[in-house]
Amino acid sequence: METLTKAAPATGAIPNDTFPINGTDHIEFYVGNAKQSALYYQAAFGFEWVAYMGPETGVRDRVSYVLQQNKIRLVLTSALTPDHEIARHVALHGDGVKVLALWVDDVEKAYHTALQRGAESAFAPKTQRDEHGEVVMAAIKTYGETIHTLVERSRYAGPFLPGYAARKSVYPAKPVGLQYVDHCVGNVELGGMNKWVKFYQDVMGFKLLITFDDKDISTEYSALMSKVVSNGNGYIKFPINEPAKGLKKSQIEEYLDFYRSAGVQHIAVATNDIIATVSQLRANGVDFLHVPESYYDDVPERVGAIEENLDDLKKLNILIDRDEDGYLLQLFTKPVQDRPTVFYEIIQRRGAKSFGKGNFKALFEAIEREQALRGTL
Ligand code: FE2
Repeated sequence: METLTKAAPATGAIPNDTFPINGTDHIEFYVGNAKQSALYYQAAFGFEWVAYMGPETGVRDRVSYVLQQNKIRLVLTSALTPDHEIARHVALHGDGVKVLALWVDDVEKAYHTALQRGAESAFAPKTQRDEHGEVVMAAIKTYGETIHTLVERSRYAGPFLPGYAARKSVYPAKPVGLQYVDHCVGNVELGGMNKWVKFYQDVMGFKLLITFDDKDISTEYSALMSKVVSNGNGYIKFPINEPAKGLKKSQIEEYLDFYRSAGVQHIAVATNDIIATVSQLRANGVDFLHVPESYYDDVPERVGAIEENLDDLKKLNILIDRDEDGYLLQLFTKPVQDRPTVFYEIIQRRGAKSFGKGNFKALFEAIEREQALRGTL
């Protein structure tokens, strides 16, 4: 199934898909200071500023910055008043992902199908227009306060959505080779994983791709369980994690404590050249999790032949794993805000369609070292 590793092209339709999705449309964060976050994503991650909405465009209560790198579109939104819903969200959760927006061809149909199958509405279909055309949007709720906005944009040619004005980076943003969203991971409460897996199966016709139990993902101290669901064409992959019992506090519990609810844990973004991408990200000041040098001792026998120079991977602290289809290279940032909540994964797939199970132990030990430093292990 080669489709699993591809970004979302315009024609992702497969026969008998009862909930066709073309790909990830955008990911919206509610943040405390969108202006400064926007500069962080430009300077550190190489995104370009492409659109803006706020007082200068006639919107009085909020600002949104839209940043883009190849097929990845991030929206950073802040409230301008203290009693705003967005301000409340940020006060409760800290900076975090509010919207995982999905690009569909027919919002009316997708929305009503979802509701008939048990989804809860976040908002009903509405059509917005400006001089560039029209966009239809609706939204359904998922775990925590996160929502899936459904976006139909075939009759729209503007920079993002109606109401947004085109902008250009003033900062000399230099793309680092990030290409598309590979997967988005949710952390949910104990007992919530199966509920949300069933939600994606029932409502959107997703298939269960992989299950990891606490024997796959445990260290001396903490454990978690994870199931990965994927949509019909494979372009959308949502792993769902829940904490499992261990000797000490699971990293998932730490997330839930700080985020104060279920929510998005990490966003994996794909590159075609992880060595170049990570070199640039490191030079830009992005902070990555550290695995000890001993991690690399058994890489040749565990992974076999790879195209990259192992010393380069070691120097950049990039993790390697193999499955039956090939191998993958991956690396995880530290949280990108003060609360230990959302972080990014940088991934390059060389055939492998899996999620780096062979790296889980090293990765979770690295997270635990960070937890210990925060006093939350
Ligand atoms: Fe991941």
